Amino acid sequence: MWWSNAVIYQVYVRSFQDSDGDGVGDLPGATRRLEHVAELGASAVWLSPIYPSPNADYGYDVTDFQAVEPTFGTLADLDRLIARAHELGLRVILDFVPCHTSIEHRWFRAHPEYYVWSDTVPNNWRAAFGGGAWGHDPVTGRYFLHSFFPEQADLDWHEPEVRRRIAEALAFWVARGVDGFRLDALDRIMKDERLRDDPPATEPPPFPMTPEDAKLDHVHSRNAPDVGVALQAIRAAVGSAFLVGEVYLRTSEMGPYLEALDEVFSFDAMHSGPDARRLAKAIAAGVARGQTGWVLSNHDFSRLPTRAGPGNARACVMLLLFLPGPVFMFQGDELGMGDAVPAGEPLDRNARDGFRMPMRWDTSEHAGFSSTTPWLRSDGSQVPAAVEQSADPGSMLSLVKRALTLRASLGQDRRDARVIESPPDTVVVARGDRLAAINLGDEPRPAPVAGTRLVLEARPGDGGDLSVIPPHGGWIATAAS
Ligand code: GLC
Repeated sequence: MWWSNAVIYQVYVRSFQDSDGDGVGDLPGATRRLEHVAELGASAVWLSPIYPSPNADYGYDVTDFQAVEPTFGTLADLDRLIARAHELGLRVILDFVPCHTSIEHRWFRAHPEYYVWSDTVPNNWRAAFGGGAWGHDPVTGRYFLHSFFPEQADLDWHEPEVRRRIAEALAFWVARGVDGFRLDALDRIMKDERLRDDPPATEPPPFPMTPEDAKLDHVHSRNAPDVGVALQAIRAAVGSAFLVGEVYLRTSEMGPYLEALDEVFSFDAMHSGPDARRLAKAIAAGVARGQTGWVLSNHDFSRLPTRAGPGNARACVMLLLFLPGPVFMFQGDELGMGDAVPAGEPLDRNARDGFRMPMRWDTSEHAGFSSTTPWLRSDGSQVPAAVEQSADPGSMLSLVKRALTLRASLGQDRRDARVIESPPDTVVVARGDRLAAINLGDEPRPAPVAGTRLVLEARPGDGGDLSVIPPHGGWIATAAS
């Protein structure tokens, strides 16, 4: 399968490239920058939602599943983007949002039966971004379910017409040449039909969530046992197109999702922070499960250099790009972008602006992103721009390119990776006769297996002694088996 070893590059369209001088990225701009993605050695682009949206949640509140947001361009612009991507050997994946629509979607009034309603607040479910999950509709006086912002009403996937309408939308994009979909918020797509209360949590949540949400065990508000009903409808609509699910659960809980999807993201690995033990366990679990992809960063959480600690970004990038299974990188990961401090009023109500800053292409006033002040600006220090990094063999961009060249030589075997027991703060993974060893701590550590010939180093000099894993660094080497 083309995605088995793919590097899938997430384009956050608003922040990638502006072409018409309004300070907001768009599809013609993105098309122009596809060469950058192809030159990196990536296999595909994933476009963050491109559908018309009032932007309560920047594109994840959709008002029409079969159209393009006018600020981003037209359907013809998307056709041109797809054609150019294919010409460059890149596949195109759309972000699709099956769990909810904007409350401004025509369906919300014309087809209330597509949504989940109750005459009173029926239970204790919480919304992922805070507050209760039931919104009061002043028009009908009833309450509708919203798993995210109150502007995002949950669709009722038990309703056959919902399945039919979404299937129609997915087929529309497949017919336009799209190669696959990243499916948003799938653990929220099916919930208890009887709307029973979530019981109190008995253990801390595995991943970040609001303190209110963390108090509950989400056995009814999400991850319902009949999720296959929704997923099979989606699979039937797209045929053999690639499907990766955003399922905010542990790797061990992905079984029912993977019956219909090709891949899921490893949130276990993404949320391991600088904890090498956790990262090693997450990698072992993902490799054993199969169908698990790795995420450098995305538009929802702290970027990799911030999550892993600034000194550890290069080592983590090198290791993640070594793993079998698809790797998802977020625009700017190749430049080492960490979280930024946004300037001006916050835009995203869930405080994610700092992860979504415009690309830094060059050293001009607006970094080559736009001819005018961008929609999102940062206060903080900036990474060197792409043009500067291209010319610097020691840059993050150069490391990423080398890691991707190496990756292409590693082959398709998804089961060939083994996590090797290693000293504290370190993660060591073998694939065939290659060994990747990184150290996220402050002390040098002995390598459990010494490398014999250096293949790649996280920082210049890291591979000087292949019996040692240097602090905040690492190497990939061949090793005697
Ligand atoms: C997913 C998206 C996130 C969005 C949410 C609701 O988690 O990645 O950006 O806010 O779903 O659609």
